[in-house]
Amino acid sequence: MSDEQFYREVILDHYKNPRSYGVLEHADAHAEGQNPLCGDEVTVSVKFGDDGETIEQVGFEGRGCAISQAATSMLTEIVRGRTASQVAALPKEELLDEIGIPLTPARIKCAILGLGVLKVALHRAKGTPLPDEWQGMDFA
Ligand code: FES
Repeated sequence: MSDEQFYREVILDHYKNPRSYGVLEHADAHAEGQNPLCGDEVTVSVKFGDDGETIEQVGFEGRGCAISQAATSMLTEIVRGRTASQVAALPKEELLDEIGIPLTPARIKCAILGLGVLKVALHRAKGTPLPDEWQGMDFA
């Protein structure tokens, strides 16, 4: 199996069996976002540990293309155990590396939808910075 085939299998697996699926009850942070280009949606919720900073639980729900949903599923595995500030500073390249296949600019927007929503949720709950590049999506 080539590298690219392997990554495609992983993406498909996350799409079919999303990790951390479901919105958390009594979440400490929550946001919904839409890719304005297609209307696909992701909702992310977070619970912090006792220090009030470390992401202990993260859940998501969504409706959209395989890349957007698989990338959000992968994201939940990347961020668990990290602090809100670390995730606020997490570069999109780290998630794109994890996805592992080259993506067109439009598909990159799909891939980072969940990351943008998570950053918005943390920004609202913890006041972590939200750089301009995340402002182009529709958040609720
Ligand atoms: Fe809508 Fe990918 S086509 S997020």
